[in-house]
Amino acid sequence: MSLSFNVSVELKYGLKSLSFIKKVFWYNLLNYLIKTLGCQVNVCDSDKLDSAFSACGACKVDSLLDADVFVLNTCSVRMQSEQKTFSYLGRVEELKQQNLDMKVVVMGCVAERLGYDIKKRFKSVDLVIGTKDVDDSISKIMDLCYLKVSLKKIIPNVSPRSQIVSHITIMKGCNNYCSYCIVPFVRGVEKSFDYNTVINECSLVVKNGAREIILLGQNVSSYKHRNVDFSLLLKSVALIKNLKRIRFTTNHPKDLNDDLINVIATNPKTCPHVHLPMQSASNKILQSMNRRYTYEYYLALIEKLRVAVPDIEITTDIIVGFPGETDEDFECTLSAVKAIRFSGLYVFKYSPRPNTRAFEMSDNVSTIEKKRRHAIILKESNKISAEIALKMVGSNCQVLVEKIWNNFMEARTRNGRKVFLKINKEYFGKIINVVIKEAKVNSLFGDVIG
Ligand code: 5AD
Ligand code: SF4
Repeated sequence: MSLSFNVSVELKYGLKSLSFIKKVFWYNLLNYLIKTLGCQVNVCDSDKLDSAFSACGACKVDSLLDADVFVLNTCSVRMQSEQKTFSYLGRVEELKQQNLDMKVVVMGCVAERLGYDIKKRFKSVDLVIGTKDVDDSISKIMDLCYLKVSLKKIIPNVSPRSQIVSHITIMKGCNNYCSYCIVPFVRGVEKSFDYNTVINECSLVVKNGAREIILLGQNVSSYKHRNVDFSLLLKSVALIKNLKRIRFTTNHPKDLNDDLINVIATNPKTCPHVHLPMQSASNKILQSMNRRYTYEYYLALIEKLRVAVPDIEITTDIIVGFPGETDEDFECTLSAVKAIRFSGLYVFKYSPRPNTRAFEMSDNVSTIEKKRRHAIILKESNKISAEIALKMVGSNCQVLVEKIWNNFMEARTRNGRKVFLKINKEYFGKIINVVIKEAKVNSLFGDVIG
């Protein structure tokens, strides 16, 4: 690289970030670190950013100390999630004193919610970008780092670390306005992506080696683009040659209709696993949450799913300590957890979020009581999960080998359980038969058959 080139770069970009610019233009070496908080939609956006950086020859590092660019992709669904963002930024603030050239980017839901206030509070932050358009966000990050990339050439949603399983976002935003939820305020109104674009993305990732696709959105079951609804989209994705499995998440019980149940039951590529957030089993609380279903409706839906797809695994989300949740309301939820026997669940302590309707309600369940209810649900759920897993010991099942670690392989059953196996690289990306030898709450251990 010539001296005149260096001088022209300095003239163009100014002297402020000279050693950063040298790294990019002179040594062709830029280290980046992306930290992702929150849901799969964020993971998917980060994957795309990851692909953009690696297409420019930048090098992924594991430690903040080695990073020239640090991108924090944030979540604001609960207060605790936002606090994680602030504690990361606090650490970065100290590190930037030692490495003034490090670029710091905040993206995702906290960035959308607080915008410029983040820059005011944390002087180390160079760029804050919201959630409106991921391609536009990636372009801005590339500009900040003086990198050039044609986003058309980036294979969407393919990260170097997840070639066998690829996440494809099919919609953004949400119109449901559950009274506790900040998502409609930070992700905007629901918008389903163009059907042809989704199918092209899916075909591209399969060409690139993916064998399983996970379709993502805040409420995939309400996908609608022109005449295509979610059931039709699933059937179309299933036609892609060499694709072995499809999963999807997340769903709202009010939108999971008979057509969709029928596709799960009959389409061999659609995996028998549904994440169906229940939130509460008290009708009074469900109404106050604006969930638009009763517990009886939810239970009937579970029964319908189990009749249509006998090997289905159902997982859920639960909130404890919502405003006005009495002991009696909580007991309803606990009894439902015992009766339904979810394969797994996420339980959250209610956290008041600005702008939401519940924010106006009195947060009258004490922190101690929320903790107590949280622990009870978690204990019960772990017990049930372990019992279900234990019943699988001795059985044969089909798994897709998703990852190879140093001395073992990570695979997944059709209904979503992780199975760890002895390493044999030949099996990477293949569907194989295994026998389950041992079970723990969240994972199984098996041997390959034949
Ligand atoms: N407090 C606690 N949990 C929440 N969730 C969403 N908003 C809140 C909140 N304010 C939970 C719901 C949702 C999951 C993604 O996060 O259970 O399904
Ligand atoms: Fe939030 Fe309800 Fe939309 Fe889910 S369906 S993202 S909980 S508003």
